Amino acid sequence: MNKNQAEEFLKEIHQQHILQYFDELGDDSKEALLSQIENTDFSVIDIKKDNSPSKAGTIEPLGAMKLEEINQNKEKYREIGLNAIRQSKVGAVLLAGGQGTRLGFDKPKGMFNIGVNVELPIFKRLILNLMEVVDEAGCYVPLFIMTSEKNHDDTVSFFKENDFFGYDKEYVRFFVQDMSPSVDYNGKVYMEAKDRISLSPNGNGGWYSSLMNNEETSDALKKFGIEWLNVFAVDNVLQRMADPVFVGATIDSGCVSGAKVVKKANPDEKVGAMCKKDGHPYIIEYYEMSDELKAQKDESGEPAYNYGVILNYLFRTDELQKIVDLEFPVHVVEKKIPYMNESGEYIKPEEPNGYKFEGLILDMIMMLKDCLVFEVEREREFAPVKNKEGVDSVVSARELLRKNGVEI
Ligand code: UTP
Repeated sequence: MNKNQAEEFLKEIHQQHILQYFDELGDDSKEALLSQIENTDFSVIDIKKDNSPSKAGTIEPLGAMKLEEINQNKEKYREIGLNAIRQSKVGAVLLAGGQGTRLGFDKPKGMFNIGVNVELPIFKRLILNLMEVVDEAGCYVPLFIMTSEKNHDDTVSFFKENDFFGYDKEYVRFFVQDMSPSVDYNGKVYMEAKDRISLSPNGNGGWYSSLMNNEETSDALKKFGIEWLNVFAVDNVLQRMADPVFVGATIDSGCVSGAKVVKKANPDEKVGAMCKKDGHPYIIEYYEMSDELKAQKDESGEPAYNYGVILNYLFRTDELQKIVDLEFPVHVVEKKIPYMNESGEYIKPEEPNGYKFEGLILDMIMMLKDCLVFEVEREREFAPVKNKEGVDSVVSARELLRKNGVEI
């Protein structure tokens, strides 16, 4: 793409300001900016469009497999799960491409030290959890770590410097997720520098396409013969990955996906709840719930939409392959976006100043035909680190780690 072509294209999409400083740039910077314009997907940045799944549709409860039932069949499920793991049919996918803006830590979130008296970076904590499965199964679980362009080098170096926290590195692969532009409240694309558009990770929904578009990771999936992928967030420090009981229960249920859930702390808790929409599994956001839905009870007298997702899903890979090329909803999310101001200074805002465009993993569930809703004990498996303090924070996560007897 040359300058004229770029000008024409940007005029069409009302983003001519991207070339504002073009003439004062050196040749390399000119070329870099033109190539960035050519390679960026601007089709997502219509802030009026928000094509997140339509709120219309028939919402119904989706029964969960509750703790009592799980405990009764635990050994059977564990055996099924361990068998699958031993045949290397199960891979783990760590979503670590986010920017953790709420935590305000400028390194990858997994490098955050959740320890107090001991050094315990979140990555180490997660690997130690996964090692428990490795010890039980007697074999390693292939682990795929999704990073973004923003944190890839730091993440990979950190794992190398720490000798993969004792995990066998032959079983670890990294892959980088795609990026998308961010805009201000008027829909104008933010610039990061005179020769660079501000790009940010395109949400956790793009994990499967990014995994498959990367030759090394897609080959590894084939080489290991992986049939199930357990996908989870970096920021739950009590996260249990490739949990044999969860894997076994999902396989035994015949469902093509599974979601770990916890009983909601209260009907207004800000977590998405599992339900059915128009016959498909669906995650209804807390703000989408009417008072009527909140009040509805199931046959045992419990609230009918009582199970919140904790970003720990299991997917059958052949089913993911069927939906990977479909158009995914794009969510418009208000965030703090670092940018270059009128005077050319780089600003890191304290408050949200625009929108990012993200695909979300929860939309994948909706595209599948069924999902096993699998209850886990909140106190044992859910300690998210989203904020510095308050709800879902470093402080609450440390407290939960202590309660679980983890040395921190
Ligand atoms: P969050 O939705 O909490 O986003 O991510 P975030 O970017 O980490 O944090 P905030 O909202 O800016 O404070 C949930 C999980 O999805 C991953 C995160 O790394 C985390 O494990 N994620 C999120 C990605 O891998 N890529 C993304 O583009 C966004």
